[in-house]
Amino acid sequence: MTLRLAATPSGLEAAAHILREGGLVAFGTETVYGLGGDASQPKAVARIFEAKNRPRFNPLISHFATASAAFEQVSASPLAHKLAEAFWPGPLTLVLPRSQNSTVSDLAADGLNSLAVRVPRGDAVQTLLALVDRPIAAPSANRSGRISPSDASHVLEELEGRIDAVLDTGPCTVGIESTVLDLTQPERPVLLRHGGITPEALEAVCGPLSYPETTSDTAPVSPGRMLSHYAPTLPVRLDVTRLDTTDALLAFGPNPPHGAGYVFNLSEKGSLEEAAARLFAGLRFLDKKGAELGLKAIAVSPIPAQGLGLALRDRLHRAAAPRPAERDVT
Ligand code: TXA
Ligand code: MG
Repeated sequence: MTLRLAATPSGLEAAAHILREGGLVAFGTETVYGLGGDASQPKAVARIFEAKNRPRFNPLISHFATASAAFEQVSASPLAHKLAEAFWPGPLTLVLPRSQNSTVSDLAADGLNSLAVRVPRGDAVQTLLALVDRPIAAPSANRSGRISPSDASHVLEELEGRIDAVLDTGPCTVGIESTVLDLTQPERPVLLRHGGITPEALEAVCGPLSYPETTSDTAPVSPGRMLSHYAPTLPVRLDVTRLDTTDALLAFGPNPPHGAGYVFNLSEKGSLEEAAARLFAGLRFLDKKGAELGLKAIAVSPIPAQGLGLALRDRLHRAAAPRPAERDVT
């Protein structure tokens, strides 16, 4: 049984209690719903992997109510402080050297000397994290390889019966995961994952960004960069301008092309923010609707490769990638 808790004082107390006892609670952040467990309890972390049906361990992001709580777990450089000042609470994850006295379990950090930390935005999640007052590991609350959840009902579709509770904090406002920035090499910030904070916004604070040397499917540096991910059931085609009647179109902008069997527009006015907030819900919706109508594929309109469009294109590229038999993704 999975409890559905409202984001009221008593719901938040109940969620905090479950987390402190080593249970699993999914909760909304500004990006997507996270599947939360106490990062300092290896058993709770192991349960996260089990609930997601993830075949292998991966390092998880630890979530905190404040930057000072986050920076107790890592050794934070002046640049980390500057970025925290500019973007926290908000959709930025910083990878930093794990401090000697970090309470985050080896299982949550995957035995690495580094740790990913983040301070999410949102009244309910902030209150919850402050109540628990421990690092909370929270990968996206979907089964491994599937579309990330941006609403409490999506979480229940994925994990009903496999987790203790979901805290219903409403739909996520950003809708796409946090940007992951590796700060373990001084003077060389490396952008590991596109997300809710654009590269332009980061560069305005920290100067030019570097990118990982390899973008291969198996790059060990950041396992969440695995290629096949966010996979709907229907196959996905990108940058489509010619449509078939058996296509379900994921459109972007005014006047989408005609000819598809069904259309869901991410943003009629062509706003990348609006499109990001609707991306995962749109994919989920078209996947269901398409199957219902007997459609054969999800066709995606071209999305500009700039600003938040980079994160949108990254997620769509993964949704379209060939799917391995055995999933090994977050
Ligand atoms: O927006 C988000 O970040 C959401 C919400 C729930 O906070 N969480 C999320 O977590 O997307 P997850 O586990 O799905 O993605 C974590 C990403 C992965 O790409 C993982 O490889 C990377 O962070 N990561 C975690 N620890 C790392 C580390 N020490 N070094 C490099 N990458 C790391
Ligand atoms: Mg994920």
